[in-house]
Amino acid sequence: MRIIVLLGPPGAGKGTQAVRISHKYGIPHISTGDIFRSNVKEGTPLGRKAEEYMNQGHLVPDELVCELVEDRVSKDDCQNGFLLDGFPRTLFQARHFDDYLERSGRELTVVLDMQVGQEVLIPRMAGRRVCKNCGKTYHVKTMPPKQEGVCDVCGGEIYQRIDDTEATVRNRFKVYMEQTHPLTEYYRNAGKLVTLDGALAPDVVFGQITDLLGD
Ligand code: AP5
Ligand code: ZN
Repeated sequence: MRIIVLLGPPGAGKGTQAVRISHKYGIPHISTGDIFRSNVKEGTPLGRKAEEYMNQGHLVPDELVCELVEDRVSKDDCQNGFLLDGFPRTLFQARHFDDYLERSGRELTVVLDMQVGQEVLIPRMAGRRVCKNCGKTYHVKTMPPKQEGVCDVCGGEIYQRIDDTEATVRNRFKVYMEQTHPLTEYYRNAGKLVTLDGALAPDVVFGQITDLLGD
């Protein structure tokens, strides 16, 4: 059973690695950002509450996040492990999640902390494009789709996220440093933290992850 948390600033490559890890180890990829975005798109009550925070690059309030994640990881497909991308993001969420794991008799395997400096992140985010249908991530310069605007995997339409403007990315980075970065200390003290250099190429980062997690 593998329970993995991906930590790192916006644009560190969490989503990019999450897709690969989920595929190789056969565990569900749970992205709180993706869950919120699909609720926004469908106009659900949760989406209406989350939208304003997200568009400004602020965090969605903890009480809306914790219960959502608990519900999701209690589902049958998570009984042999799962991968969290974008959660926990505050100390409150981390403690809440630890309590949940203890109650459900499960243990966190590892926290992969992907570190990348702000100077690398801004151009990455400005060039990011995402498939509307399957969520695969591209970059206009470094990882373009074979045909412009069309997903290589599923043929879906490729778009740019509203929160990927330079000003919002800067704010998201600031929020990350203030509220999420302290989690590295929290998980280091728990003996769970492994730090990766997210500025390396995606294949290199993934190689380091599989060396660590085994086959
Ligand atoms: P979320 O969707 O989680 O966004 P994020 O954490 O800001 O992370 P991103 O998805 O932007 O980046 P990533 O690290 O996945 O990078 P990616 O692989 O795409 O959250 C969005 C919002 O939702 C938050 O701001 C908040 O409002 C809300 N929210 C979500 N969870 C919450 C929570 N727990 N609590 C409260 N609020 C919450 O890569 C980026 C780009 O770089 C791509 O173009 C990619 O192709 C490229 N790239 C990736 N890796 C490499 C590499 N190694 N080298 C070169 N390019 C690369
Ligand atoms: Zn697609």
